[in-house]
Amino acid sequence: MSGSSRLDGKVILVTGAGGGIGRDVALTVAAQGARVVVNDLGASLGGEVTEAERAEAVAREIRDAGGEAVANGDSVADPGGAEAMVARAIATWGRIDGIVNNAGILRDGFFHKMSFEDFDAVIRVHLYGTFNVSRAAAPHFKDQGSGAFVHMTSTSGLIGNLAQANYSAAKLGIAALSKSIALDMQRFNVRSNCIAPFAWSRMTSSIKVDTPEQEARVRKLMEMKGEKVAVLASYLLSDAAAGVSGQIFAARNNEIFLMGQSRPLRSVHRGEGWTPETLAEHGMPALSGTFYPLSVSADVFTWDPV
Ligand code: NAI
Repeated sequence: MSGSSRLDGKVILVTGAGGGIGRDVALTVAAQGARVVVNDLGASLGGEVTEAERAEAVAREIRDAGGEAVANGDSVADPGGAEAMVARAIATWGRIDGIVNNAGILRDGFFHKMSFEDFDAVIRVHLYGTFNVSRAAAPHFKDQGSGAFVHMTSTSGLIGNLAQANYSAAKLGIAALSKSIALDMQRFNVRSNCIAPFAWSRMTSSIKVDTPEQEARVRKLMEMKGEKVAVLASYLLSDAAAGVSGQIFAARNNEIFLMGQSRPLRSVHRGEGWTPETLAEHGMPALSGTFYPLSVSADVFTWDPV
């Protein structure tokens, strides 16, 4: 793992960078020397377009600080829009070196009440959006023999959360997509990693607060800044991260976690094979001591952010 941790000369596209964590990533990579395509559709939390000028405002902020940035207002959910974002980078600076798939929306609701539209909209922005933008950049990365992807996943998908079936499915799908990209494009020196961020943003501000426990949890969330996530993203995009691919990290204030990936935990075997009866008598009792509880993210991250 040698090479610079700075991003001088690199061209980075950050999706959903008009606010929240994406804006922090755009500002941080620009401060590290990158030229930035700031993408944002200007969507409300649920995905309706309300503030189309949001991307331009962040691009201006970068230029005002002496950096280089252009804005793009396309939707990641649209394959043509994703092509246009990457084309903007190529047209402006002649190359693309890094992609941060960060754009996102939420349409929370308990599974038994979730509409097709709410499932579809969230999968489209997160999972298809990540595919569309990554796929648009892939031929350029392949041709130049280098490139880095960073995708925002979530502990809602990696661990679990209530009332987020659409979002959790998309976010765990993104982790698998990232691993597949890392495997398929390793031969072209292309890396792909995920970050599960914890940060106070309008996304987390939508968390329902009905009890004192939830209020205390939200107070803790408010301490967690997107800039902390942005530092990890910036590093992962740099040449210093040359040996880092196919990994899932979490970033929570000053803590950084390497998250697990699925492996067999325990096995049971019967030479003659299994019947439903022997599974009930022997197989499941042997495995059940190792079952995962039905935990949510907050049951796993049980201590305050530090
Ligand atoms: P945010 O809601 O503040 O920012 C998301 C941005 O994406 C918005 O500016 C929005 O306009 C943009 N966007 C939405 N749909 C788009 C589309 N189709 N095309 C282009 N842009 C679009 O959210 P936040 O919290 O900054 O989240 C950023 C990422 O981090 C998301 O992927 C989210 O799922 C993930 N995340 C955030 C966590 C947190 O604690 N804030 C926790 C876990 C994951």
